[in-house]
Amino acid sequence: MAVMNENYCNLKESYLFSQIAAKVAAFVANNPDKKVIRMGIGDVTLPLAPAVVDAMKKAVEEMGVKETFRGYGPEQGYDFLHEALVRYYKEHGVELATDEIFISDGAKSDCGNITDIFNNANTILVPDPVYPVYVDTNIMCGRNIVYINGTPENNFLPMPDDSIKADVVYLCSPNNPTGAAYTKEQLEAWVAYALKNDAVILYDAAYESFVVDPAIPRSIYVVEGAKECAIELCSLSKTAGFTGTRCGYTVVPKALKRKAGNGQEMSLNKMWLRRQTTKFNGVPYIIQRGAEAVFSEQGQKECQEMLEFYRENAKIMMNTLTKKGIKFYGGVHSPYIWLQCPNGMGSWEFFDYLLEKLAIVGTPGAGFGKMGEGYLRLTAFGSREGTIEAMERIEKNL
Ligand code: MLT
Repeated sequence: MAVMNENYCNLKESYLFSQIAAKVAAFVANNPDKKVIRMGIGDVTLPLAPAVVDAMKKAVEEMGVKETFRGYGPEQGYDFLHEALVRYYKEHGVELATDEIFISDGAKSDCGNITDIFNNANTILVPDPVYPVYVDTNIMCGRNIVYINGTPENNFLPMPDDSIKADVVYLCSPNNPTGAAYTKEQLEAWVAYALKNDAVILYDAAYESFVVDPAIPRSIYVVEGAKECAIELCSLSKTAGFTGTRCGYTVVPKALKRKAGNGQEMSLNKMWLRRQTTKFNGVPYIIQRGAEAVFSEQGQKECQEMLEFYRENAKIMMNTLTKKGIKFYGGVHSPYIWLQCPNGMGSWEFFDYLLEKLAIVGTPGAGFGKMGEGYLRLTAFGSREGTIEAMERIEKNL
């Protein structure tokens, strides 16, 4: 008799964004005449950069020619992409070796998959509000999860203290969902906490390219000691419009070592390589050539233009919210605007109000944890026309 994983009984019925998609689909079916503006899931709307498309086309051609065709690639990614990433990190003040970078199909998958190399007895620390993947994937393993609160008082940037007992810490900066970004000093405090407690930080840097202030770190490795305590997860989804194309990367430094349950010292880099070579066959060659082009001079120029476009959307949104006297966070180093629901409304109540009355889709803050109650997240990834229209609807009707 097959016995199933009972930890799944402890999960909510459905994944947050699937739940929202179902609600929106029902609304669209019942209101075919309404123009729905989607500012919910952080999905990009601009097409891939021309430099990326050209590189992919060239790679497709290579795949159709006997001499240049490629079958299985290295599970951890091709060296041409590792080398491009080593150069990119170097520009931001971080030295990495090519074999410390693992190419994947995105940060969401790696956030979940990385749980494989940790013992289930670990206590997991997550900030609340939080990207639900960190929580759900650890519930699936039956792990003990403790929370640290993000509040308006700490600008949604919770900090460690000695009372917190945790072995694995998830941090996301710039943050999903709040848009808040840690300073270098704040990250130093987290690194000091991890080193003191032999903990490991899982640092989600998927939104690093939105940082506009050079004083805000784009990688945790600018902090001394971080290579001894942190894994960094990153993605091209938001940086270069790869949400549908799928390509990300995870950095596991060779200096990162911890003991296994039997006392044996383990290299996390070797463990992750072993995990990936066993369970993953790598990202397609065509996609990796496209990803390489993101880091070329032309690719960077084109991707920066895309980021500027989304930043301008965020400015339009922030102007309207300011005019309406609605308190919000984020929007500067982030495509997300985290706003306080007006008139004391709850998150889902305001979500329903926005959808039913204004045909605007947001993401209820409560979906990111109990500290998100009373907040709602909007994204700046929409079209210019859609963003302006949504803000006009808000300006007139809220
Ligand atoms: C979000 O909307 O939070 C993100 O798009 C989800 C993701 O990146 O998986």
